[in-house]
Amino acid sequence: MGGFQKELDLNLKFLDNDIYQNLLPIIKTIQTGEVKINIWDIPYSIGKLSYLVHSHYRYYGKFPSVVAGQILKQYPPKNPKNDFMLDNFCGSGTSLVESKLRGINSIGIDISWLSILASKVKVSEVNFEYLEDELQNLIRSFKEKSHLFEDLPIDYFCSKWFSNKVAFELTIIKDYLIGMNYSPERDFLIVAFIAIVRRVSLAFDGEVRPHINRTKRPRDVLSAYIKKTNDMVKNQKSFNDLCPSNTIEKTFLGDNLNLSKIKYLHDKNIYLVISHPPYLNSFNYSPVYNLEFYWGKYFENEYVDKEKISLHKTELKAHPANEIIQNKYFEHLKKCYEETYSIQEKDGKLAIVIGDCSRNKKHIPVINRLIDIVKLIGYELVEINYRTTHYGLGKYAYNHRADYHGNNEEKRDAIIIFKK
Ligand SMILES: C[S@@+](CC[C@H](N)C(=O)[O-])C[C@H]1O[C@@H](n2cnc3c(N)ncnc32)[C@H](O)[C@@H]1O
Repeated sequence: MGGFQKELDLNLKFLDNDIYQNLLPIIKTIQTGEVKINIWDIPYSIGKLSYLVHSHYRYYGKFPSVVAGQILKQYPPKNPKNDFMLDNFCGSGTSLVESKLRGINSIGIDISWLSILASKVKVSEVNFEYLEDELQNLIRSFKEKSHLFEDLPIDYFCSKWFSNKVAFELTIIKDYLIGMNYSPERDFLIVAFIAIVRRVSLAFDGEVRPHINRTKRPRDVLSAYIKKTNDMVKNQKSFNDLCPSNTIEKTFLGDNLNLSKIKYLHDKNIYLVISHPPYLNSFNYSPVYNLEFYWGKYFENEYVDKEKISLHKTELKAHPANEIIQNKYFEHLKKCYEETYSIQEKDGKLAIVIGDCSRNKKHIPVINRLIDIVKLIGYELVEINYRTTHYGLGKYAYNHRADYHGNNEEKRDAIIIFKK
């Protein structure tokens, strides 16, 4: 029995250590020559692909971790000390995490402070003892205050999405976090707090844009928070154990149209850009996070410089894909890849993860239009990787998005590789 257990533990350890290498796409080449064309098949569930710190924060619209992993595997840095991967739409930091696992320096930029906070927490060091002490203090404070429950005067938005008791209990946690000294551990606990907001609200858990779920079972705020924090600690420890030390990770809150103004980038070799813009006609990001921003607003001032406070308003709009939005969308992408071109050295790579879509049943060939735009900037097309996954088209899937299942010749999802 002991021997069996030992063997099982060893196997599990082996699997854990290699998890980010074992789930990479299965690749079939369908065209060789000057421009290579491949099919990347990812036959795993989202849960399986959310290994290690990828599960810290449920970011609707992130790409599968192994998409970033495969790009990084194909394009390792020549000079690991000085070369950086840059993600100019970094969202929840998927590509930063995959870079760190491989000992690659990375820089992430996003227009949303919540995304930047989530990205930063995933790739930062924390003191686990201090974190545990703070969690215990928070629990003590919660228990002292929660029995004093009273109906707080809450605004219309809050009473629509949260029961009075949940709003009261979230307020206790929020107040504790506000009182903590600034530290990476506080950032970590704030991400755990924001990560449970949807779960304890009256909204469906799994939907992208929130809607009330009238039959939702009430969730206990404190136990949801403790569980989330403990899960994050466990995953962060396993992640840290796997990452080679001495890599650099930097995150910037900002608009990717202003890359050349970021001083930090001036003396860095951006050998690879990974770029995953919002998909045309899928959704705009900030409205999806209404509930999280509602509770996050108490911290926003600390993370956002005064002049950047309304930055999310300059988010690249992707929905609805009428003619005006389409034009603005492609104009934005043109400008932002002009920016990456201006800061990359010759031979630098650009990997864009993007999909076609349809509007009013009319196909919009986003991939081909983007290839033309990026080539005109000066990049050379090297490879197109069409993606298939087996996520299943569930209740909340968008059928006007790319068709992942490979049985639709027209709408596709691709990872397009360019070279400067
Ligand atoms: C498709 S998501 C990227 C998801 C990311 N790959 C991940 O795995 O989490 C697109 C991101 O672009 C960001 N964004 C939109 N407009 C932007 C802009 N002008 N500059 C920088 N980021 C922007 C959104 O906030 C969103 O996080």
